[in-house]
Amino acid sequence: MTANGIMKLQRFENGTIYGIGEKRGLSYKEGILYVEGVAIPHLARVLGTPLYVYSQESLEKSIKAYKEAFENTLVCYAVKANANIAIVRYFAQQGLGAEVSSLGELQVAIEAGISPEKILFSGVGKSETAIKKAIKASIGYFIVESSMEMEILHELARRMDKKVFVAIRICPDIPVDTHPYLATALLESKFGLSIEEAFALFLATKKMPYIAANAIHFHLGSQIMDLSIFDKALSVAESLFYRLKSQGINIEVIDVGGGIAIAYSAVDKEPSPRQWAEVLFPYAERMGVQLIIEPGRSLVAHAGTLITRVHYLKQKGMKRFIIVDAGMHTFIRPALYGAVHRVIPVIPHENAFIKADIVGPLCEESDFLAKEVLLPEVQRGDLLAVLDTGAYGFSMHSCYGLHPHPTEVFINGESYQYIHPSAVHFPHS
Ligand SMILES: Cc1ncc(COP(=O)(O)O)c(C=O)c1O
Repeated sequence: MTANGIMKLQRFENGTIYGIGEKRGLSYKEGILYVEGVAIPHLARVLGTPLYVYSQESLEKSIKAYKEAFENTLVCYAVKANANIAIVRYFAQQGLGAEVSSLGELQVAIEAGISPEKILFSGVGKSETAIKKAIKASIGYFIVESSMEMEILHELARRMDKKVFVAIRICPDIPVDTHPYLATALLESKFGLSIEEAFALFLATKKMPYIAANAIHFHLGSQIMDLSIFDKALSVAESLFYRLKSQGINIEVIDVGGGIAIAYSAVDKEPSPRQWAEVLFPYAERMGVQLIIEPGRSLVAHAGTLITRVHYLKQKGMKRFIIVDAGMHTFIRPALYGAVHRVIPVIPHENAFIKADIVGPLCEESDFLAKEVLLPEVQRGDLLAVLDTGAYGFSMHSCYGLHPHPTEVFINGESYQYIHPSAVHFPHS
């Protein structure tokens, strides 16, 4: 290897170019990218690509940060971020609860060993089958989003003769500085109820003997960098809390949803769980309520890396394309939200850097993983790693184009456990 080549490799090894850092369980060893103790080329050979690899060490770090910051708080992992059973099981073993929004996620949470009383069921479109299963399992809270849903829930609970605990989702009407598709707290959004509607619904539950509505819920959106909006939302929740108290309704729990951002780029600085706790705790203490949080992305995003193989290289005019075997069907965040993820070579070659778009095999212009990426020149057959794909990666993949489902593998040190796509079970509701 030339001196220049060694220098470039070292820049990869210490992560200065891409800021790989400790968070992801990734490192270069002798010029090869590893997840913990497992070489990625080995995994790709054995399991094929596209392949999502998850690092237990990375999960451990994010859980530790939450546990240290959030004593006496119920942390419910938002399963929609990544429903891989090995990951949910790991969170269950660490004592976390789960926020689920479908029958499938409910089943995964139960199967993974999450204690039912730590399961929250949210979402605007819960099916009757899912509601019945959740009532039977005696889950912690139903997060109700409309008066019709409340009536159906009450009727099903009455028929099953089981009282259920309910949080009503409020919409504090707060703009969030994130992608518009990820901002869920505006009045025009389908989520939650206005404060007046929520207030009326709380009062209506007084006449519903099978409903115990003692919790307020909100979820402001996702990839939230500025935590001061939680301040605003909690002020709204607090005034509702006192209005309800004056009507004889005691709110015992406030669930602030999830949403805190991670740094996808080397320049972004992600908010920490501790900073989040510092905003939330004064409100919880003043009202004397139990706090629930529902982080998804901030628990799992860094732990996941998408591995894809280069099919072809193409030059068209001034533009270079690297055509790989993963696309928007494998990982939709770039196409859907314009998300920018770092891409690094699994085995960096010692040659000149190039700028290229990394695109998939689908017949869509939106089928790209990254645009104008700076990479050491790659060859057909090389492997590339897309960073921070542990959240909303596999969970949002599709079978568009009938390309194979990506495989998922969970790494712990030198051992790995892989989940074959055929084991992924989506029950009908
Ligand atoms: C109700 C609810 N809770 C929690 C989350 C998790 O959000 P995040 O992954 O941004 O932490 C979501 C995400 O959409 C959600 O809808």
